[in-house]
Amino acid sequence: MRHDRQVRSTPQQTRDGSPRVQAWLPDEFAAHVDEAMDIYARAMQYPPHAARQRAATARSHARNEGFACRAALLPDGTLVGFGYGYTTSPGQWWHDLVRRALDPQLRERWLTDAFELSELHMLPEYQGIGIGRDLLVRLAASLPHHAVLLSTPDADTRAFRLYRDLGFVDLRRRYLFPGDARPFAVLGAVLPLRDAG
Ligand SMILES: CC(C)(COP(=O)(O)OP(=O)(O)OC[C@H]1O[C@@H](n2cnc3c(N)ncnc32)[C@H](O)[C@@H]1OP(=O)(O)O)[C@@H](O)C(=O)NCCC(=O)NCCS
Repeated sequence: MRHDRQVRSTPQQTRDGSPRVQAWLPDEFAAHVDEAMDIYARAMQYPPHAARQRAATARSHARNEGFACRAALLPDGTLVGFGYGYTTSPGQWWHDLVRRALDPQLRERWLTDAFELSELHMLPEYQGIGIGRDLLVRLAASLPHHAVLLSTPDADTRAFRLYRDLGFVDLRRRYLFPGDARPFAVLGAVLPLRDAG
């Protein structure tokens, strides 16, 4: 599996001060992981300590094969949103649970040569103006994989509507991951995404 072929870049200055989406290499993401996890906790309405707990896991994700990330940055460099993932593989927590949760005929089609979108979050004050969609579309357009997979709370959320709009289909509904009382939907989309143009 090839890694995301990204070039290091500085965020473009915007005339109106709106965020710009930029590729981040694994070391750039690792250097900003605490900021990113603060956004994760605020976006998901988790308590602040959830950010600290998640940071160690997210830092280790940056070492996974196929890691790819996009950051939404203000002209002054402030991070306001991000999305990242990596090649899904046996032995990973999410992969092994989802493998068991999927019908056998779905496993081979979806769990080989696929990218797990691990996190996609925008600060609440920057949600609903098209940036999250831009993050995901740009990230997906960079991937060498055959498909993108994710799990999201199984409810009528902005995230769910965004994924549907980009062509994600149901692989499993109402799935309960260990340690979380909420049911999740496992969704997948074959690349390129349908509005990748
Ligand atoms: C999910 C998330 C990353 C999506 O990012 P976002 O920037 O808010 O989403 P977008 O603005 O790109 O698009 C989603 C919505 O904005 C609307 N929108 C898109 N562009 C727009 C624009 N230029 N002007 C106004 N509205 C716009 C879309 O129609 C959609 O609206 P809807 O929710 O009413 O259906 C973000 O909302 C978030 O962080 N949510 C909380 C955390 C979360 O759920 N993360 C995903 C976990 S799996």
